[in-house]
Amino acid sequence: MTQSKARILLIVDGAAAGLPGLQLLLRLRQAGFGVQVAASAAAQDFQPAVSWAAFSGLPCMALEKVSVEQLAQAELLLAVPISQNRLEQLLSTQQWRKTMQEHNIPLLAAPALLPDEAETELNCADTFAELPAGSRIIMPDEQRWDMGAMGSIALASTERCMEEVYNFFTVSDLLGKKLLLTAGATIEDIDPVRFISNRSTGRMGLALARAAARRGACVKLVHGPLADPLPANPRIEPIAVRSAQQMYEQSITELKNMDIAILCAAVADFTPDQYAPKKIKKHGEQELSLLLRRTPDILASIGKQEKRPFLVGFAAESDDLELNARLKLQSKQCDMICANDIREPGSGFAVHTNRVSIYSKEGHVTQLPLLSKDKCAEQILEQVSAHYYAWLQNQR
Ligand code: CTP
Repeated sequence: MTQSKARILLIVDGAAAGLPGLQLLLRLRQAGFGVQVAASAAAQDFQPAVSWAAFSGLPCMALEKVSVEQLAQAELLLAVPISQNRLEQLLSTQQWRKTMQEHNIPLLAAPALLPDEAETELNCADTFAELPAGSRIIMPDEQRWDMGAMGSIALASTERCMEEVYNFFTVSDLLGKKLLLTAGATIEDIDPVRFISNRSTGRMGLALARAAARRGACVKLVHGPLADPLPANPRIEPIAVRSAQQMYEQSITELKNMDIAILCAAVADFTPDQYAPKKIKKHGEQELSLLLRRTPDILASIGKQEKRPFLVGFAAESDDLELNARLKLQSKQCDMICANDIREPGSGFAVHTNRVSIYSKEGHVTQLPLLSKDKCAEQILEQVSAHYYAWLQNQR
């Protein structure tokens, strides 16, 4: 085990630490955060210190014995889950408040509330105003954690807590920027029961939507069917469409006033020439020919517009990645293209990871390693933001 500086001190307390607390720790570690755990004696009844240490990669501290020096090591205190009583106790401990203020360490706390506490106001809410900027209470959402014989506990979902942590560590360099994002596959109907589509899950698009919203952008998400639920984020406005034609029309309608457009959808290139309003019957035939025609190319159409937003496309290639990506960048007149090799393990459709190379119009290349789609989205947005502001200068 290393003693390297952990960015997050995860305070866990009570019965809910056993499952939700551990789940959050695993998600934080997967996302690449350095986390050290301070577990109360009650939390250690449900998950022993060795287990916290094994999953965090750092020794587990006893919450009751955390020293000022250990506290001062953290950049963020994350108390999830924590009982009301324990939270009040921590906040009234002079030493903790003093260290947080002196070292500017904010506290994000998600209280685990019993059914009879869930509707009541937290007594310590006012104290948060006096803590370092960024400190807040993450109130429970609709999710209830079933604790077996102990009943159900109201506690913010792991997703919500992850969003708050990301928000804390992310710069708001796209604050107020309007961003159009296409995501997911499209569905091209053949008849009332059959359609043509592709294997896109929309995960990369959703990760980009979340990452852009975190950086402060207002996202219009024009999407086809998605494998994962839509993020409940006021900065993300989803607009569901089905076909390539509908995605084209919606995207063009939304384009006005957009600052940035990222076209990540796996749009069908062809659609049946004729839609059969009644189910196509076999009628004893051994063959069926379908005539397909090209769909409108949304990326190329936006690329042609004289007054258009900063434009980012995607390219899924199986051969000559760089050459094909550069050709697409040129032919579709975009400012940046994110290309991935769909033959590479972990980098194609229906997986949670991606390895992307980013090519800019000016000839810059950024080769990202194999990353989770969330991390990959962060890195893409980093590049988009940097190149967008340079592009904006030239527009004036
Ligand atoms: N795209 C689009 N509208 C289409 C087709 C594609 O906006 N009708 C966008 C995608 O969202 C993506 C980029 O164009 O940003 C991908 O380009 P595309 O030419 O579709 O890539 P491939 O399908 O790989 O093309 P090809 O088969 O010619 O390689």
